[in-house]
Amino acid sequence: MDDQRPALHLDHVSAGYPSARPVVEGVDLVVRPGEVVALVGPSGAGKTTLLRTAAGLLRPYAGTVTVLGRRWPERAPRGTIGYIPQRLGLVHHATTLENVAMGGLHREPAYRNLLRLPTSRLITEAEAALDAVGLLDKADAPVKELSGGQQRRTAIARALLQRPRLLLADEFLGELDRQTAETVQAAVLHLAETHGTAILLVEHHLTKAHTMADRVHEVDGGRLRDITDPARVDLEIHDDALLERRPDLEVA
Ligand SMILES: Nc1ncnc2c1ncn2[C@@H]1O[C@H](COP(=O)(O)OP(=O)(O)O)[C@@H](O)[C@H]1O
Ligand SMILES: [Mg+2]
Repeated sequence: MDDQRPALHLDHVSAGYPSARPVVEGVDLVVRPGEVVALVGPSGAGKTTLLRTAAGLLRPYAGTVTVLGRRWPERAPRGTIGYIPQRLGLVHHATTLENVAMGGLHREPAYRNLLRLPTSRLITEAEAALDAVGLLDKADAPVKELSGGQQRRTAIARALLQRPRLLLADEFLGELDRQTAETVQAAVLHLAETHGTAILLVEHHLTKAHTMADRVHEVDGGRLRDITDPARVDLEIHDDALLERRPDLEVA
């Protein structure tokens, strides 16, 4: 929070996969510390591709990707980017608690880190993070025995423990029932308020995106556009297909 540089700056970025046409082009996006920005758009539009590019996992086709002042391919400092992918990246042979504790290992003294042994302080924090996502009773269960939604919550608790400066969350409320989703949503948004974490999330429910985020951008037709102000968007939409896809926009 001492640092008001953008946590993420995409400057004229085109993103996609090697030896294929770019999926999205000419993307300009800035996410500042403590800001929550949502990406919405139809399936296959390129939301995940954009998130992976922001995470430094994909080489930008064109333009510059800068995270915390470091321009790709230079990497942001260890532990500063949290990424909750659509596929969760959990360690399946470890327990739920161990998976969560891994999120905080970068804050441990180096020797602990090498040995991958969480300290008791970290264990206590991991338990608190599990509690925040309503999963404390599964702490000692092997993560492979959890349901899809419970595994998702484990990945979220791990990101909470990490306390990243930039959190990229891809449909992180997927598979969660309404009440659990509300608990998890509050825990994640709390990171922005208390730690100044910049959050870029993908959310397929438009209304939900508007509830959670300071700004909402739509990825569609290979472009990114700001649809934060629904009134303005209404003026722009004369296309039945678009309205069909986004019935929540018919508020005005
Ligand atoms: N590893 C990959 N290699 C090549 N093309 C991919 C790969 N992953 C996704 N794509 C393509 O990129 C486009 C955007 O996908 P994605 O970013 O996952 O969309 P969204 O998250 O908005 O549903 C799709 O056409 C998809 O088929
Ligand atoms: Mg996706």
